[in-house]
Amino acid sequence: MKVLPVILAAGQGVRMRSRLPKVLHPLAGRPLIQHALRIVQQVADVPPIVVIGHQADQVRAALDESVRTALQEEQLGTGHAVMSAEALARGQSDLVLITYGDMPLLRPETLRALIDIQKNNRGPLSLLTVEMEDPHGFGRIIRDEEGRVTAIVEEAVATPEQRAIRELNTGVYCIRNAWLWDALRKIQRSPKGEYYLTDLVEIAVSEGLEVQAVCLKDSEEALGINTRVHLAEAEAVLRKRIARHWMEAGVTIIDPASTYIEADVTIGMDTVIYPNTYLRGKTSIGENCVLGPDTIIEDSQIGNHCTVLASVIESSLLEDDVRMGPFCHLRPKAHLAKGVKMGNFGEVKASYLGPGVHMGHFSYIGDAIIGAHTNIGAGTITCNFDGNNKHRTEIGEDAFIGSDTMLVAPVKIGARARTGAGSVVTHNVPDDETVVGVPARPFKKTSQERTPQSE
Ligand code: UD1
Ligand code: CA
Repeated sequence: MKVLPVILAAGQGVRMRSRLPKVLHPLAGRPLIQHALRIVQQVADVPPIVVIGHQADQVRAALDESVRTALQEEQLGTGHAVMSAEALARGQSDLVLITYGDMPLLRPETLRALIDIQKNNRGPLSLLTVEMEDPHGFGRIIRDEEGRVTAIVEEAVATPEQRAIRELNTGVYCIRNAWLWDALRKIQRSPKGEYYLTDLVEIAVSEGLEVQAVCLKDSEEALGINTRVHLAEAEAVLRKRIARHWMEAGVTIIDPASTYIEADVTIGMDTVIYPNTYLRGKTSIGENCVLGPDTIIEDSQIGNHCTVLASVIESSLLEDDVRMGPFCHLRPKAHLAKGVKMGNFGEVKASYLGPGVHMGHFSYIGDAIIGAHTNIGAGTITCNFDGNNKHRTEIGEDAFIGSDTMLVAPVKIGARARTGAGSVVTHNVPDDETVVGVPARPFKKTSQERTPQSE
């Protein structure tokens, strides 16, 4: 039986108190709606449909172009929201799976269990319920003496006895496509003018049809994000789940509670992560690395056997055996080849550091290419900006850049060339030459004294 998911995401989310649409608030580095999509995509046979309405343009713009959306122009309730998907969904599957865009903690296994119950249900509808001590805001599940579900009663209209019920409606349903659309037309407007999707239960029961329910084992899955407090709760749950996943995959996380790994990150075996480390965006970490404490890595690729201590890495690439830190900053497009060592207070931007380059202390390298095994002395700076434009610096292999050298770009330093401490290099330096001074000139030793050669 083919399953078509419909995700409801047209509501306003007033309680977020935000200009950003609720489903675009990020959780573990991804907007809520992306979590909802990825969850249902794992059980879908037909690509999901997202019902959008409030701030529809913004929400649509945040979705891949391949994601189908249905517009609910006026938000007249959950039943009305599903009706908006009729043109796209009617007849397109055997079952329609309905979820919300603001429920990021649902597990695909749970949805599979619900789908399986409905596959074996003679009636048209199965729903996911949850038992919770605090039922506030949820619809209550009404069962008859035989335990059959007969209705969902919304809190606003529930009697005191009904309010005491602890089995609640999560808002997730699996419904026979061939039955759904005509049944939706039978929903009456509520006193508040809304079409409640929950009325489908009574409609089915009144037709003598069976309604099945699966009760969640893990009630945290039912968390719907209505406020920023919920957002933080969900973040904590996801953080735990992600950390557990990587620990089970062979990663040591010293303190999961203070380690922030986003959903799209991957980590190799035997890597060790110290506290207060953030791995964000599309980041991949190799095997046997040691990261942190106090490290942020975003949208970057880190090879095997790398060490990163108290540093910030953005949109960069580290090959194997790189050692960094403490207090380094890689800005976008830094590429550190195998075996690079970068020490205290170094900054690299849009540059390639060849294999084995050493850059120990207090340097800025921007828009540069540095050959293998070159040593960048303490305090070296590529003066890459002339006030208007950025210029490039090229340094050959096995060069030795003396402490406090200013490389005024555009400039090229040859292989095995050397610069004296404090030199300001304004002209290209050929292979094997040594330059010193301000501005730097070729250095010649005389028997008497060591002075820069005069021109
Ligand atoms: C709904 C259920 C309630 C359940 C609860 C679980 C109904 C009538 N009630 O209540 O039984 O316990 O969810 O959280 O269904 N939406 C639209 N268009 C609309 C209205 C809502 O797309 O016109 C979307 C919202 O964006 C949201 C979801 O539907 O993702 C739920 O809407 P919400 O208003 O939060 O439903 P509740 O009143 O909380
Ligand atoms: Ca809600």
